[in-house]
Amino acid sequence: MGVNLKGRHLLSMLDFSAEEISAVLKTARNLKTNPAERAKLPLKGKTLAMIFQKPSLRTRVSFETGMTQLGGHAIYLAPTDISLGKRETTEDIALVLSRYADVIMARVFGHEIVEELAKYATVPVINGLSDFEHPCQILADLQTILERKERLSGLKMCYIGDGNNVAHSLMYGAARMGMHMTVITPPGYEPKESVTKKAKEVGAATGSTIAVTSDLSAANGADVLYTDVWASMGQEAEAEARKRIFKKYRIDAETMKIANRDAVILHCLPAHYGDEIDYATSRLPNSAIFDQAENRMHAQNALMVHLVGAS
Ligand code: CP
Ligand code: NVA
Repeated sequence: MGVNLKGRHLLSMLDFSAEEISAVLKTARNLKTNPAERAKLPLKGKTLAMIFQKPSLRTRVSFETGMTQLGGHAIYLAPTDISLGKRETTEDIALVLSRYADVIMARVFGHEIVEELAKYATVPVINGLSDFEHPCQILADLQTILERKERLSGLKMCYIGDGNNVAHSLMYGAARMGMHMTVITPPGYEPKESVTKKAKEVGAATGSTIAVTSDLSAANGADVLYTDVWASMGQEAEAEARKRIFKKYRIDAETMKIANRDAVILHCLPAHYGDEIDYATSRLPNSAIFDQAENRMHAQNALMVHLVGAS
């Protein structure tokens, strides 16, 4: 296939080229739709160590179930189990886990923690969400968009809400894959300037345009509408204030009138119904939010097969 990801880390959506992302998405589709591919147990005998500093439903269960499906084993390390950086240094944790496990996944607060794990680990490290990026989510999102629209390049994706980790990875993913991306946030809650600048640079080479605005009418003509919680994990103290600031920045019946009628609705979940999305809109036939959740498993299975698998 010409793509070899063996031994690589995935910390950022920019870590992989468009060709590499496409290869993972192709494997994800194969693993999802072809039981015979899963029956080959491409992760047989492999162990995944999963470090969590934050709560999770999808990330934990999709990685763990995926490992079981493909013949491997996953170990859940709760925040209090290893107390990353307190009981033991990140460097030592990376070195020790590399002696047992074939791949490490970590969900952390500071992005520098996954970078440090990757610096010292001798096995691939996967970012299972940091305050800065959430690349596994975006692999699943791209798979979901492909299922609904049969292409990525040239589509217009519109993200409404907080310029957070998910927004950052979406911008990078869109730029890599030639999708147009508009991020609509309240003033002061835009994605990091460095991310916007970098996404624009990457997009210039793929025909993707990246825009950031506070104008909700920019959702006009969107093929994909995406939102996420207004207050991310670690921002709980700001949640009430953000509810007032973000009030208009949501996906609801009004947004659906602005976007294309057949716009795919995405949300990485967990959702706060009535805030960033209303329940009725989340249940429209256009909504692919539970396909997204399922595809976390297929996309990550594919990722792990490419990073550590036998094939
Ligand atoms: N979307 C996502 O990462 O969900 P969890 O926080 O439940 O893992
Ligand atoms: N932006 C959210 C995503 C949760 C999957 C958070 O970081 O909490």
